[in-house]
Amino acid sequence: MGMVEFTERTKTGISGLDELLNGGIPKNAVVLISGGAGSGKTVMGLQFLVNGAMDYGEKGIFVTFEETREDILAQALQFGWDLAKLEHDGKLKIVTFTLSKHHLSFVNFQLDEMISTFKPNRLVYDSISTIGVYAEILADVETLTSLGLKKEDMAIELRPDTITRRAVMDIMARLKSYGLTSLVISELPKQSNFLSRDTVSEFAADGIILLHCLERKEKKIRAIEVLKMRRTKHSMDLIPMLMADNGIEVLTGEKVY
Ligand SMILES: Nc1ncnc2c1ncn2[C@@H]1O[C@H](COP(=O)(O)OP(=O)(O)OP(=O)(O)O)[C@@H](O)[C@H]1O
Ligand SMILES: [Mg+2]
Repeated sequence: MGMVEFTERTKTGISGLDELLNGGIPKNAVVLISGGAGSGKTVMGLQFLVNGAMDYGEKGIFVTFEETREDILAQALQFGWDLAKLEHDGKLKIVTFTLSKHHLSFVNFQLDEMISTFKPNRLVYDSISTIGVYAEILADVETLTSLGLKKEDMAIELRPDTITRRAVMDIMARLKSYGLTSLVISELPKQSNFLSRDTVSEFAADGIILLHCLERKEKKIRAIEVLKMRRTKHSMDLIPMLMADNGIEVLTGEKVY
């Protein structure tokens, strides 16, 4: 007899993925989705929210620093997902920020407000890597103070990566405190020794899912790998993945050659 399963799970509803995760993502977990450009991170995030809204009656919020609202709506329509309708029905909220214009302290404040009024069950943050790109801009006094840095600390030279790491840890803790299940998207530079660009979010995250584009003979194939998922017995294999007409499909039971 197996052990009794006490962990409540949030189903991604993505074909094959919940199976890999022993039923889904542990409720209230913060999971890093890391991968290279075009590996399917944004699509996976959107699919997680669309399935939540359509199949599980859960509200979702999509926070993006990367793309415009129009880009997101158009990408989703490619897979038959009508985000505008879900928004109209109060099941989804798409929020766009521009870190070159908005300070991180402003973003965090807005986010707190929206979570407490909209009360979503699922959140996608696309992407945490943007924080690193704008580290210098984030170094306004208000943001630094909100990250717990004192005047004395600011007097010494603050390196961009120090600010980035602190900001990333702060965001991960903030997401955790909301009491919802989040996917945090992270760009993975090629040939990185780390699992994220900021090098710290992998430790703060409850789970890490890597998306790959692999070169195999003449063709490229997509694959997915669960590297870490607290409270979960999961496969450690590299599993092939498809971008099908209605979204991502994980081909559990198949192998990557
Ligand atoms: N309708 C479609 N059918 C099949 N595949 C598609 C379709 N639309 C987009 N794609 C694939 O999805 C990729 C984009 O996926 P996505 O935007 O999720 O990647 P990403 O990992 O978020 O990339 P980035 O780091 O650049 O933001 C495209 O490059 C393309 O290969
Ligand atoms: Mg993306």
